[in-house]
Amino acid sequence: MVYQNLILEHAENGTVAVLTVNRPKALNALNAETLDELLQALAHIAADSALRALLVTGAGDKAFIAGADIAAMQNMNALQAQNFSAKGQRVMQAIEALAIPVIALVNGYALGGGCELALSCDWIIASERAVFGQPEVNLGIPPGFGGTQRLARLVGRARALELVTTGRQVKAEEALRIGLVNAVVAAAQLTENGLETARLIAAKAPVAVRVAKQAVHRGLDMDLANGCVLETSLFAFAFGTDDRKEGMTAFLAKRAPKFEGH
Ligand code: CAA
Repeated sequence: MVYQNLILEHAENGTVAVLTVNRPKALNALNAETLDELLQALAHIAADSALRALLVTGAGDKAFIAGADIAAMQNMNALQAQNFSAKGQRVMQAIEALAIPVIALVNGYALGGGCELALSCDWIIASERAVFGQPEVNLGIPPGFGGTQRLARLVGRARALELVTTGRQVKAEEALRIGLVNAVVAAAQLTENGLETARLIAAKAPVAVRVAKQAVHRGLDMDLANGCVLETSLFAFAFGTDDRKEGMTAFLAKRAPKFEGH
């Protein structure tokens, strides 16, 4: 598959995919074509049973994604804006729905739709040059790709409200302090740090990783009691896998496990 605005590469013997939004001249801004390509690439990734983790990043050293494409939005009417927002929301949901862990490697500006795309990943590793923000109010609009919802869920209501109503930019260290990102690393280390994390995940039992991710995501939409019921059923499900037997046998035999993914 040839993409105009994306690069989809594989690493670690095909167990890790690296998806790069590639419009560096527009700071990787998301237009409708890029969103369509993201939907295609994500469908391709979802169907690849060899994958254990996905890394998402932006091309160039300046931006992760500087937002939805303002030039493309300039002349939209309300109906076109609704379709554009819905398409963006589908992309974010498709990222969130992937069975494998997805890590955003934020190498620069992650503003508006770029911050929203990072928020739809399971967690974020930021370079020391990363800058986050929801500056849509400067353009006369609110966030439209899920930012009001996912930012509030991640950093809390008050911080999200401050950020979406002031449009203030948040640098990497502050992003770490408020729990928006999991780690801040030197810019030159970002890709290697992401690959190292992906390698760690790829070495674990794949079904256990997938059900652990599912339990966290689905559980957050439930009350605690129902979330724990879900966890019990996924725990029992994992007991039926060969990898569970291998993991426990290997531990007791004091050797490294060899997981096959079933
Ligand atoms: N859409 C379209 N083009 C963009 C863009 C965007 N979101 N962000 C940057 N660009 C383009 C610029 O127009 C410029 O293009 P030209 O070279 O053709 O003039 C190029 O990228 C480089 O940008 P700058 O010259 O502005 O670079 P800078 O270093 O001076 O500033 C920046 C960098 C602070 C990120 C600035 O570009 C900026 O503020 N960008 C817009 C950020 C923004 O408002 N994002 C939210 C968009 S709305 C949204 O995302 C809605 C939603 O939730 C769905």
